[in-house]
Amino acid sequence: MSLKPPAAQDIVIIGASGDLSRRKLLPALYNLAAVGLLPKRGAIIGLARSNLNTESFRELARESVRQFSRSGFDEKRWDEFASRLTYILLDGGGYARLATATRESHRFVYLAVPPSAVPAVVRSLNDAGLKSGTRLVIEKPFGRDVASARELNRTLHESFAESQIFRIDHYLGKETVENILVFRFGNSVFERVWNRDAIDNIQITVAESIGIEGRGAFYEEAGALRDIVQSHVFQVLSLLTMEPPADTAAESIRDEKAKVFRAMRPLDPDRTVRGQYAGGSVDGDAVPGYREEKGVAPDSTTETFFAAQVEIDTWRWAGTPFFLRTGKRLPRRATEVTIVFREAPLCLFEGTSVERLRPNHLTLRIQPDEGITLAFLAKQPGPEVKEQLVRMDFSYGDSFMTRPEESYERLLHDVMHGDHTLFMREDAVERAWMIVQPVLDNPASLCTYPAGSWGPGEAEDLIAPRTWHLR
Ligand code: NDP
Ligand code: BG6
Repeated sequence: MSLKPPAAQDIVIIGASGDLSRRKLLPALYNLAAVGLLPKRGAIIGLARSNLNTESFRELARESVRQFSRSGFDEKRWDEFASRLTYILLDGGGYARLATATRESHRFVYLAVPPSAVPAVVRSLNDAGLKSGTRLVIEKPFGRDVASARELNRTLHESFAESQIFRIDHYLGKETVENILVFRFGNSVFERVWNRDAIDNIQITVAESIGIEGRGAFYEEAGALRDIVQSHVFQVLSLLTMEPPADTAAESIRDEKAKVFRAMRPLDPDRTVRGQYAGGSVDGDAVPGYREEKGVAPDSTTETFFAAQVEIDTWRWAGTPFFLRTGKRLPRRATEVTIVFREAPLCLFEGTSVERLRPNHLTLRIQPDEGITLAFLAKQPGPEVKEQLVRMDFSYGDSFMTRPEESYERLLHDVMHGDHTLFMREDAVERAWMIVQPVLDNPASLCTYPAGSWGPGEAEDLIAPRTWHLR
């Protein structure tokens, strides 16, 4: 991340009155301004169809920042930031007024609108003459299957070149996700064992204790596979498994990630588990089942839990199983990667109480409690040979005395600098959909699990005889 403020440009948010804009984008821009990382010149222009004006938009933004800014709220800083904010009502002439209002020759336009609105907004920007000088930021979901992803890419490319498009997956802006490449390619001690010869299996879990948070209509269309696995989990998987790039140029890294997706086998529905939460209890509070949530059909078959075994057919990974798992209403919020190494080839300690040597494992804690742990065996003190699994632990908080920054700050900053490294490329997005398409066409039957559990028992069968590390 460059620490220079970006070149002069306007910042445009379409859908500025919505949830994403209020909870993430406006607070992130405020925090970038606070550390001098916004362009020195350029307006911040919000657009939506809601009947706001610049004054009421500034009030909405102020409340958003007060509520969601990670660095708190400072009245003087706010006044400076607010003076850059303007609002344009998206009525018939909204896009033409935007073209007049943009003062700089460069801008980024963030589409914080529902997916169904994207094609019309993209065409309107083009018709208003805003193609040249624009970087276009698109939010997930990038389609809902192979065909719709291709259609979306076609629509985008009717108006914008791939080099102008920034597809956001906010997991890529997490410090701990970005650290995967530094950890792998900066530490030869680990990279030498990062392959099928030394690793027995790799597990990725994205566990959430929340339910669907009032997003019933959205979630009914998405489900856990589309919402988390095809996007966030696949991105983490590609960083864990890609080959070292020739250099750190954005395209070199994105090429290596795309190669992983090309080598991944399409999912086998028989090696997947789909679950949906029934009522239960999370953190001691009784919570309703998914089908009782607002906006959800009483006979919904949308999955809120998804687990799969994945194979990657490369020389490095052939034969190594990857176990992926995500779910809502699990016992706690935790995103973790566990690399389970092979067991020692033989147990030397015959005649002692040590009958089996438990394998080493390395855990990357993506969130919360961000850090890395290496577990290995040590002899318990005393005359008898008795082993115990002990841990070497790195914690971001203890080592750097800080929590990782909010991922939207990082991603917005990179867009302003035109750096594509942390954004998804067209070919990788389409290939990721091809991998999950067999399960979309032929989904496994739906299991239920009580809210507050680690998902259906079938997920334990999927990984057996191994076990999920996070529990
Ligand atoms: P909301 O429904 O809360 O907000 C949508 C915004 O778009 C509103 O400002 C709405 O305002 C505006 N809008 C709707 N239709 C149009 C249109 N035709 N033309 C212009 N503006 C329009 O949605 P979210 O903010 O939650 O989500 C926005 C996008 O971000 C979605 O693609 C979502 O999947 C994605 N996303 C959201 C996340 C979140 O945390 N909220 C996380 C990850 C992705 P008005 O009706 O006034 O025009
Ligand atoms: C979003 C999903 O992309 O990621 C949500 O739509 C999910 O369903 C969220 O809750 C999780 O993000 P994070 O950063 O809290 O892990």
